[in-house]
Amino acid sequence: MKKACVIGWPITHSRSPLIHNYWLKQLGIEGRYERVPIEPAALEQFISSLARSGYLGCNVTIPHKEAVSRLVTIADEDTQAIGTVNTVYLREARIFGTNTDAEGFLANLNWRAPELELSNQLVVVLGAGGSSLAVVAALLSAGVPGIAIVNRTHERAEAVRKRFGHRVQPVSWERREDVLTSASLLVNTTSLGMTGQPRMDLDLRRLPDSAVVTDIVYSPLVTPLLRQAAQRGLKTVTGLGMLLHQAVRGFELWFGQRPDVTQTLYDLVAMDIDPGYQP
Ligand code: ATR
Repeated sequence: MKKACVIGWPITHSRSPLIHNYWLKQLGIEGRYERVPIEPAALEQFISSLARSGYLGCNVTIPHKEAVSRLVTIADEDTQAIGTVNTVYLREARIFGTNTDAEGFLANLNWRAPELELSNQLVVVLGAGGSSLAVVAALLSAGVPGIAIVNRTHERAEAVRKRFGHRVQPVSWERREDVLTSASLLVNTTSLGMTGQPRMDLDLRRLPDSAVVTDIVYSPLVTPLLRQAAQRGLKTVTGLGMLLHQAVRGFELWFGQRPDVTQTLYDLVAMDIDPGYQP
C-alpha cells in the first residue's frame, strides 16, 4: 500500500486527504493519504523517519512550512527563493522538499481567468507573510512588471522587496485603496476574511472594471472580499482552486501519475467547506 500524508499542528481542518484520496480512487492506485498531527517538538524526528514509517512523502502545513525547509534538501531555485516547503518527497534514500504553492496559484488563475494577461500588468498583493512569498514568486515568474505589496507591518513588505528585488514595491496599509487604480489583479494573502478572523476593510471602488480579484483564503469559499468584488461586477477567483492545483505535483511525485483538477473535484471539496454550496 502506497502512503503519503499531511502534517501540521493542528491538522483537523486540512482538506488535502479529501483531494488526494479522491485522485487515488479515480486513478485506481492502491494507496492512502493520511492526516498526521505533529507537534513542533516532534517535527525533526518525523521527517527523518518518513521512509521507515512507510511514507513516500508528505504535505506540510501550519506551523511547519519554514522549519521543514531546514530539514530537507531543496533542489529548485524557486523554493529556495520562497523559503518554505509544502511538499516533501523521497528519492534514493534522500529527503527532498519543494514548494508547489506558486504553481498552484498560477494554474488556478489560468484555469478560472485564462484571459488575464499578466506580463504587462500591475498587481496589488495584500499581505507579506509566508503565503505572500509564493504568490510574489509566481507573479514574477509570469513576467509581471510591478507588484505593490500592501502590508500592515512595513518591515515585512520591505523584506519581500529585499528578497525579490525592484519589481516589488512596499505600500503602507493606509494607502491600500490608492494603489488599486492601475491594478489588473488584486490578491489577498492575509488572514483577513478567513473564518474566525476579522474581515478585510477595503473599498474596491477604485479598481478598474477589468480587474480580477482573488483570495488565497478558501474558508469561507467566498470571502467577504470576493463577495464585494462580485457585487461590483468584477471577475473573482476563489482560493480553493489554488489548493487543488498545488496538490497536483505532490501527488505526481509520490504516486507517479499526474492527476487532473476537475470541476467535479472542486465541487466535492467546496461542499465539504461550505455545506450550502451549490455546484
Ligand atoms: P501566512 O504564512 O499564511 O502568510 P503569516 O506569515 O502569519 O501567515 O502572515 C499573515 C499576513 O496577514 C501578514 O501579512 C499579516 O500582516 P502583518 O505582517 O502586519 O502581521 C496579515 N494580517 C493578519 N492580521 C491582520 C490585520 N488585522 N490587519 C492587517 N493585516 C493582517
